[in-house]
Amino acid sequence: MIEVNHICKDFISPKKYPGLKGAIKGLFSTEKVVKSAVSDISFTIQDGEIVGYIGSNGAGKSTTIKMMTGILKPTSGECRINGIDPSKKRKENAKNIGVVFGQRTQLWWDLPLSESFTILKEIYNVSDEDYEKRMEFLNEVLELSDFFDRPVRTLSLGQRMRADLGAALLHNPKVLYLDEPTIGLDLVVKDNIRRAIKEINEKYNTTVILTTHDIGDIEELCSRIIMIDEGKKIYDGSLERLKDLYGSRRKVSMEVKQYDSCKKLKLAEKLGVSEEDCRMEWDDEKKILGVSFDKHKVQVPSILNMVMEISEVKDIQIQETELAEIVKEIYNHGLHAAV
Ligand SMILES: Nc1ncnc2c1ncn2[C@@H]1O[C@H](COP(=O)(O)OP(=O)(O)OP(=O)(O)O)[C@@H](O)[C@H]1O
Ligand SMILES: [Mg+2]
Repeated sequence: MIEVNHICKDFISPKKYPGLKGAIKGLFSTEKVVKSAVSDISFTIQDGEIVGYIGSNGAGKSTTIKMMTGILKPTSGECRINGIDPSKKRKENAKNIGVVFGQRTQLWWDLPLSESFTILKEIYNVSDEDYEKRMEFLNEVLELSDFFDRPVRTLSLGQRMRADLGAALLHNPKVLYLDEPTIGLDLVVKDNIRRAIKEINEKYNTTVILTTHDIGDIEELCSRIIMIDEGKKIYDGSLERLKDLYGSRRKVSMEVKQYDSCKKLKLAEKLGVSEEDCRMEWDDEKKILGVSFDKHKVQVPSILNMVMEISEVKDIQIQETELAEIVKEIYNHGLHAAV
């Protein structure tokens, strides 16, 4: 459905100089700076996939989406969406896609929502019969009827986002691009939006590409994620694999009776691994012994056995690294650091 081949996007802007003098100098200067927002990104996405496109602020996500929708033309490389190059055949491509930019609306601000839908029906040439059917479905999943007659500018953010999503789906597009569709929404509306996306994907096999900073969106919706950093692709694969590769650390916390005796234990040495692979942490106040370890190198039962030789264990808790932690680590230190 989607093929992206070595796309790059450079933005060229006049060079800026600091201060007032600089601003004046800038007016006359012809020097340019080139900002490479996306460099050499390739991927293929199959029919019906929901892919999370993630990366830190300014990584190049929106720029990629804009190239895939035909809003921007790649500096080099090409995209094919359902066989069409969006930068060459923008109109034809538009029939196949629906787009929601969470940060702004594509609806007519002063018109009642219902009229925006009527206009979109005409633009996309949706037959009366299809329109009826479609609206019934959209109403069901997005509950638009409560505010269908109100001008868009009077809608709350959550209502507007549901309206925008509905509008993007009116012509039953094969591909749906969602750029931060849950930004600023409360938990209930977020949940509604996620459920709607899931239902649409299941019912119509719609391919969905979603950029988001909300890890919940990813965990709820995406079987695959593509991660970019400074315009380059750094990961493409399943969520499980990412967790497996980078979330290899676990922590087991034990409330121990003979806390002081446990302090003499040299766990790493006894298990034959490095200190880094099996690190002991102490909470003197609560008398809790924590062990942070690499799950590929150390097993929980071996840790427990060692500790229980010395002390009674009153309570135990095992924590897996959360996806949010993994992603934060990768954004902060790059992919290699987390491996
Ligand atoms: N029209 C433009 N002119 C110049 N630079 C631009 C333009 N659009 C984007 N950029 C730059 O390209 C880079 C990537 O921007 P982009 O909007 O794709 O990031 P993003 O991954 O969507 O970030 P965010 O998570 O903040 O939305 C940024 O450094 C941005 O400043
Ligand atoms: Mg963006």
